[in-house]
Amino acid sequence: MISCYKIIQEMQAAVSQWRAEGLRTALVPTMGGLHEGHLALVKAAMKTHDKIVVSLYVNPTQFAAHEDLDKYPRQQETDLALLAQLGDKVCAFAPDSLYQEDHATFITPQGCALPLEGVHRPHFFQGVATVVMRLFQTVPAHSAYFGEKDFQQLAVIRQMVRDFNWPITIHGVPTMRAYDGLALSSRNAYLSAADRAIAPRLYQLMQSCAQDVASGIAPDAACAKAITTLQAEGFGAIDYLAFHDALSLQPTDKVTASTRLMAALWLGETRLIDNDSFENLCNAQ
Ligand code: PAJ
Repeated sequence: MISCYKIIQEMQAAVSQWRAEGLRTALVPTMGGLHEGHLALVKAAMKTHDKIVVSLYVNPTQFAAHEDLDKYPRQQETDLALLAQLGDKVCAFAPDSLYQEDHATFITPQGCALPLEGVHRPHFFQGVATVVMRLFQTVPAHSAYFGEKDFQQLAVIRQMVRDFNWPITIHGVPTMRAYDGLALSSRNAYLSAADRAIAPRLYQLMQSCAQDVASGIAPDAACAKAITTLQAEGFGAIDYLAFHDALSLQPTDKVTASTRLMAALWLGETRLIDNDSFENLCNAQ
């Protein structure tokens, strides 16, 4: 049986106790709907930590009113069973809410939070930064693990930790993909069978785009070509598909090994996001 904490004060007390005993503790923040991508974060944390707290909390403040808060996958029993398989280092934190009823204080990240998701989901990083800070306070761990799948989110959290000099080490973990290259995501559950068949084309076309740039085509032209192909193949609105600097997250036409190709687009009712470094995209088979 896996321990699942529901009460903020009990979670805080447990982590403080582990720390007093000299146990290295890691936090893996999630919104549940767990898949192998989430589990990769937990497995990475297990290598160097004695206790891993996986938070399962669908954070309302990072969804705009028109977004998918109500239909977001909630499957706590399944999530707990998946975590239990990883052994007794792992426990869960699943509060009913992380906010008091009159909660009124928010962290509003700037800088690397402003482009990309900052343009298309302007409410998003304020909600993420605020809930992650609540989690850091509630689970005062040595380390926290985040996926490169949400590369801009990882950059925003790193910046917040630097800005507030928060005593936690942030680790990024590479994106886990399905056999056909589709980045694993809780939202993939929304894809119809027909859309699931098309979805891997996104990562394939990101690879082609990078390979075009490697062969001398200008980054803008290579991205425009990928966008035209995606639309012809059945994808809906493309929020962005462009090369961005890996630290500032600003758009760039000076593509180097670490430059990220960042993409967000619609497929039916599902918004997919993906990204990878120019180097990885060029080397992928
Ligand atoms: P969620 O989408 O559940 O993701 C939780 C963590 O898992 C994030 O750090 C995300 O980047 C990582 N992740 C998701 N899919 C992944 C994949 N295919 N490979 C590797 N890592 C992957 O991101 C959030 O929740 C929320 O914004 C949160 C940080 C929990 C704040 O509410």
